[in-house]
Amino acid sequence: MYENKSQAELYDRLYQDRKDYEAEAAQVAGFIRGRKPDAASLLDVACGTGIHLAAFAKIFDRAAGIDLSQWMADLAFERLAGVPVHQGDMRSFDLGETFDAVVCMFSSIGYLRTVEDLDSAVRAMTRHLVEDGVLAIEPWYFPDNFLPGYVSTHAFKDGDQGISRVSHSTREGNVTRMEIHYVVADAGTGIQHRSEVDYLTLFSREEYTNAFRKSGLDVEYVETGGGRPGFFLGTRK
Ligand SMILES: C[S@@+](CC[C@H](N)C(=O)[O-])C[C@H]1O[C@@H](n2cnc3c(N)ncnc32)[C@H](O)[C@@H]1O
Repeated sequence: MYENKSQAELYDRLYQDRKDYEAEAAQVAGFIRGRKPDAASLLDVACGTGIHLAAFAKIFDRAAGIDLSQWMADLAFERLAGVPVHQGDMRSFDLGETFDAVVCMFSSIGYLRTVEDLDSAVRAMTRHLVEDGVLAIEPWYFPDNFLPGYVSTHAFKDGDQGISRVSHSTREGNVTRMEIHYVVADAGTGIQHRSEVDYLTLFSREEYTNAFRKSGLDVEYVETGGGRPGFFLGTRK
């Protein structure tokens, strides 16, 4: 996943068109300030190319990001002058500093494979929270609301290029297998096709809730609507 520069760049262009990052960041900032009104610092874990992080950096006085993929982190670094962006694994990172809020957006947590990994990631994120800080994790879908056979499509024109993405998702045990095909038509070089298969774990509500509790957080689940999977919100006691 995102193992070279062109994959990271395609992700960046596609999702800027596909998602309303500013609105999502504002919604999560609302969840955070509703629980910690004086929250002034935020860490975005699995920040990708930093599109939410750019919006968070306008809302919070101090913001930082971390991502497993050096290619994604590099694009985030280029986007965000003055905002620290680290490379690291959400299961084990240690930045040696704390934040009023830690977020993990767009179901990035679903890329973890096991409950042990989920517990480790929530523990590592919690270690980066101040006392009474807020952890906000956007999960992947749950075993009982994932729709096998789900198809999504997206196409748009960006300058001299046409970009399209289709995906088809199936269920294999407690994992979603999402096959994604991209077709990019470039005015100069013609049409290129690429594909990838992503695996996202269908952790249960209880597995998320337990991970938060084991890390010493009070936890609640909130719906977001818009076909998105909601948020788990934790407050450090
Ligand atoms: C769907 S993208 C979301 C990126 C960004 N949050 C966004 O909303 O555009 C998933 C991200 O999770 C990152 N990721 C996957 N596993 C990770 C791990 N173990 N630790 C940190 N980041 C991880 C990937 O590199 C990728 O950037």
